[in-house]
Amino acid sequence: MCGIVGYIGEKNATPIILNGLKKLEYRGYDSAGLAVLTNGHIEVRRDAGKLKNLEQLIMEMPVSGKMGIGHTRWATHGEPTARNAHPHLSSSGEVVVVHNGIVENFIELKEELLADGLKFQSDTDTETIVLLVEKYLKGVNDLETAVRKTLERLKGAHGIVVFSAKEPDKIIAARIGNAGGVVIGLGEGENYIASDIPAILEHTRKLIFLESRQMAIVTKEKIEVSTIEGKPLAPQISSVAWDPISAEKGEYRHFMQKEIHEQVRSLTDTLAGRVDFEEGRIRLPQLNLTAEQANDIQKIILTACGTASYAGMVGRILIERIARIPAMLEIASEFRYSDPIVDEKTTVLAISQSGETADTLAAMEEARKKGAKLWSIVNAIGSQAMRIADGYISMQTGPEIGVASTKAFTAPLVDLYMLAILLADLRGTITPEYRKQLVDDLRLVPELAGRCLDRESEVEETARLLKDTRDMLFLGRGINMPIAFEGALKLKEISYIHAEAYAAGEMKHGPIALIDKDMPVLAIAIKDPWYEKMISQIEQAKARGGIVVAVATEGDERVASLVDRVLWVPEVPWMLSPVITVIPLQILAYHIASLRGLDIDQPRNLAKSVTVE
Ligand code: G6P
Repeated sequence: MCGIVGYIGEKNATPIILNGLKKLEYRGYDSAGLAVLTNGHIEVRRDAGKLKNLEQLIMEMPVSGKMGIGHTRWATHGEPTARNAHPHLSSSGEVVVVHNGIVENFIELKEELLADGLKFQSDTDTETIVLLVEKYLKGVNDLETAVRKTLERLKGAHGIVVFSAKEPDKIIAARIGNAGGVVIGLGEGENYIASDIPAILEHTRKLIFLESRQMAIVTKEKIEVSTIEGKPLAPQISSVAWDPISAEKGEYRHFMQKEIHEQVRSLTDTLAGRVDFEEGRIRLPQLNLTAEQANDIQKIILTACGTASYAGMVGRILIERIARIPAMLEIASEFRYSDPIVDEKTTVLAISQSGETADTLAAMEEARKKGAKLWSIVNAIGSQAMRIADGYISMQTGPEIGVASTKAFTAPLVDLYMLAILLADLRGTITPEYRKQLVDDLRLVPELAGRCLDRESEVEETARLLKDTRDMLFLGRGINMPIAFEGALKLKEISYIHAEAYAAGEMKHGPIALIDKDMPVLAIAIKDPWYEKMISQIEQAKARGGIVVAVATEGDERVASLVDRVLWVPEVPWMLSPVITVIPLQILAYHIASLRGLDIDQPRNLAKSVTVE
């Protein structure tokens, strides 16, 4: 969950690293630091808190050099202080390391190193790595061998970047397991290292992704990839087409607001090249799916975390309704420990914006072990969840920077809808007319999303009404029940208001006891098959003095006459309605958090991509 950047070449590494860290700050903002090689020795600058503190420090104590590494931290071992900030130096000051992951045998290694007489200057597990390298260097005198020996000793999952003042021509990067990615960016007479592509995208589009247990020796002229054991590998160079502009905030105050507004474009891009409106057909070539394979599937298990899991809840309904394949959702952090009933007739579909969430990857590995077919829906190109799957659907939304996920929620809703149609088509369980109608409905989606965005100022007014509430209840039924969960999550994540979501029909079985004038209720009551039932639920809430805000279909006077405020959405076919109903809830959470003056893009305690289990 930390961010890593490295540079080796002829330019000044400091601004390159700081710029890269800026793109990665969403991965962790407990502290930041960098180390550069200056006149044959390593200079480190680091500070607690956000990157701006490090930038300030560097303004006061400038540092430059032609190679360096930087880090932005999400604390696991040791408090988020300057002393625990990365990079970490060896006791001699000769070697320096940045690290993403947890050294699971840290206590044991620390005891060993203390017994050897080495001294720790931080409370982090990472320091054991640099001290081990230092220890092994005494015996072998070359950095590469010492790093290999160190990597062999570490338990857990890691991304590690290290260099030594004594070998100023190289940086070594390694990956073990799924603690986030390690990507090498190829330049001319210079090379880059990062945990995530956005950090280096402005410099290069040619990338090498390290797999687990691979290591790269990076000099300014070349890159050598090998296994940790030392077997040389022929690196595969990928090109990415992401637009670096989309990783900038532009005219918006926050990335989250920008990303909410990008949804017209991202939904259009999600459809691009996949929908044949003429024939009423869906094409998802990267799934590598044949009719025979589609007919073989007996069960689909969707697995994901956080926002992505709510997309999975919607997906489960779509796959069952459209493709008539039994489907279930299992939260990824539970999947591995649930002894899941999975075999070669089961397809496990992971959904992940980052493609690097440790829980999701662990679920995928468990499914693989049990013989399942593996698919993923992923946004980050080249990420682990994309690479280890048998087939994937790329979200095509461009990088998402705001910690609270928005456009990477609506895109997979559309992907899942398309997947369900494709499965039904390949299995021959859908009439051509119905298929064509479902495909036709997709045409409307970007424009309808745009109409929700046009109502931002109305939603902002409702945000003013709700900004001081302490609690809030979100209710939905059927396909919009997961949207109640997602709406509540958005509010919790960025406004720190306690919000709970319920399947609306469950309200009478308990939560209705909570309703009074201080517990506003948000009810999703659009014209879908659950409409009448939602009306009854709203009436029950009103009868108990609750303030009710409804998401309702434009022109629905019946709902308007019942509730205190309405968030209007355009009429939309019910199976695509979650894509639309979630938009006012994203805007509402955004404006409530903004009115409360909170740090929307970097909410407390959270990280964009959680690479620890
Ligand atoms: C973190 C983020 C959430 C996100 C979840 C899953 O908890 O804070 O916003 O939904 O991870 O992330 P993924 O990258 O797998 O979609």
